[in-house]
Formats: sequence, C-alpha cells, structure tokens
Amino acid sequence: MVNRVYAKISLENLTHNYRLLKRNLGNIPLMAVVKANAYGHGALPVTKKLASLGITHFGVASFKEAKALIDAGIKGSFLVFGITDPYYREVLTEEGMIQTVDSYAYASKLKPKEGTIDVHVKLDTGMSRFGIYCHSDKDIDNTVTEILKIASLDHIHIDGIYTHFAAAEADRPFTEKQHRLFLEVIDRLKTMEVVIPWKHAANSAAILNADLSGINMARSGIALYGYPPVDVYGFLPVMSLYAKIVSIRTLKKGDTVSYSRIFTAPDVMKIATIAIGYEDGYLRFNTSRDYVIYKNTKCRVLGKICMDACMIDVTDVPSKVGDFVCVMCEQKDARVLAKNQQTITYEVLTNIGNRVERVYDDET
Ligand SMILES: Cc1ncc(COP(=O)(O)O)c(C=O)c1O
Repeated sequence: MVNRVYAKISLENLTHNYRLLKRNLGNIPLMAVVKANAYGHGALPVTKKLASLGITHFGVASFKEAKALIDAGIKGSFLVFGITDPYYREVLTEEGMIQTVDSYAYASKLKPKEGTIDVHVKLDTGMSRFGIYCHSDKDIDNTVTEILKIASLDHIHIDGIYTHFAAAEADRPFTEKQHRLFLEVIDRLKTMEVVIPWKHAANSAAILNADLSGINMARSGIALYGYPPVDVYGFLPVMSLYAKIVSIRTLKKGDTVSYSRIFTAPDVMKIATIAIGYEDGYLRFNTSRDYVIYKNTKCRVLGKICMDACMIDVTDVPSKVGDFVCVMCEQKDARVLAKNQQTITYEVLTNIGNRVERVYDDET
C-alpha cells in the first residue's frame, strides 16, 4: 500500500524505447546510461531489466553507483564517467570497473598495488567539461601525444576512447566538428598502431539525428527513459507520478492557502491536500503554475508548494481521501513539468526524491 506518493516505472516502456533505439543503431551496441539512479527511475531494477535485454555496458557517474549495482549481482562492464579520486583506485581494479581518464597525470595516479586498470580515454572536443582538450585541428598533436603517454603506463589498459557532444539536439555543424576531431584522433592513433577496442560518442540526440560513422558503441540515457531531446515519435515515458489525497476541506470566501498566503479563495471552494512536496521533487517553482489531473480534470495547484504537501482545487471534482492524482502521467508528462519549471526533462526526472516509492510493472 502506497503511503503518500509513488512513481510508477514501466519497464515495458523502457524495453520498447530500447528497441526503438536499436532500430537506429543497427549492430552498434548501446551503453545504457544508468547514472543518477537511472535518471530517477531506480538504478537496480532498470539496469537489471536492461541487462536481461542483452545490454552489457552501463554508464555511471561514480564508482559508488557502479559498486551498488555490482554488489547487487548485475553482470556487465561499468564505465565511470566522472573522475574517481585516486584514493579509491583499488576499488576500481578489484571490481573490474572502467575508469574515465582525462590526462596522463591522472592516469599515473591510478596505479593499483597489483594488476592493471581498464580505462576509457575521454576527449574534450567541445564540451569543456572532462577530457583531453581537443577543440580544433591544432590540438590533435598534443592530444595524440597525451594518449600515447597514457598508453605507455604499465598499469593502464586502454579499453576505449570517447567524447561527448555538447549540442547534438540543436547544432549539427558543431556536432559534426566534434565527431570529425574524434575520428581524426582515432585515425592518427591507428597509424601509430594504437588500436583501441571501443570508440563511442553519440548520446540520445546524436543516435537519433547524427552521423554514427566510425563509432562502435553509443550511449543513451534520456531516450531510454522516454524523452528523446529531438522530435521523433514513438518513445514512451517510463515514469509517471501519483500523489495521494490526504485531506479535503471546504474554504470560505477570503480564506487563504499555504505559506505566505498568496492564494485567497474568491468564493466558497473545495480543496484537497495531496502528499507531494518539494522534497519529493515537486519543486516550489511549480507554485501558481502547475496543475494535476484527477478524474480527467485539470486541478490547479493553489498557494505555495510545501515540503511534503500541496493543495489543489477540487471544487468541481467529486473527491475522496485516499484517491491518487496524476502529477506526471500520459496526459501530462515530464515535458509539461519541465516547461513550468523552466528546465529540461532530465532535471525533472532526476529531481524525484528518494522517499517517493518506485513501483515497477515487472521485475526480471
Ligand atoms: C558522458 C555521457 N554520456 C552519455 C550521456 C547520456 O546522454 P543522454 O541522456 O542525452 O542520452 C550522458 C548524460 O549526461 C553523459 O554524461
């Protein structure tokens, strides 16, 4: 029995989205990006499901995210996108994780007591976040030299090389430039007999609208979860969000609602308190902007959103304590919330709080 609020996670829709991506990818395998608790969907059930569909590579932000999945019995290759403090280098080797490296200096510090560590070298071809700086042709020599130095380290095994597109959903010329620089570095390495098994660049947007030549793996997060950042049809949202009505009251004209009293009842009206607040990821920014759906009716959110609850207008809806209202569902998906919150679907999904119960349609 759900106590307050729950996120319904459709692993069936996740499977459907994966199959759609596969249509674009053909034989190119997909690395599923399951960082940030699988974008809020629950890393373990999501990764388990994706592994059961044959995915073998998973992208995480930190070694701790990978460790939790490995400890839970998920088999696969885990690429840590973020920089792991060298203090934790033994865990990387012991658990067989793949670490992103962005320089010779960093790679040198990853020397384990014994054995080697698998790494993917990250190139910064224009994102200016992580990676060896390679924003133009002039940077290629230095980039190649840096990679050769990394390759010369006895404790390092370069299993892959990758870059990340900064604007694949919107800026084709810039994406093409990033892609070209990436492939040129790989070609130069090849002429020096440095052959790197995995070469990956594309994220969801690029998988759906960019050239994938020269790469042999792609990485997707947001499209798997149903929100491709480009206009394509057929992807289905994986998460919906429902909050319980926990109290109903009738207001008299002039009564005010919630903190700071920004809403005053213009007349007699009926309101319901629902058990979702900003701690659950229903941001205060939705105050006076958003609505929920209850019995096919749009019910306005009234007054400020509190930490654990907020109030909605149910004057015209026969309402009952214990019913659930849709905060995010098919009729009002994460794009609506993203628009209200002046953000992107990624942020809406990853903001959904830990205390929101995740309910799965099927667990493999
Ligand atoms: C390195 C890296 N690859 C792939 C992705 C997945 O991107 P998307 O969710 O747009 O598919 C991310 C997400 O931020 C990322 O950081």
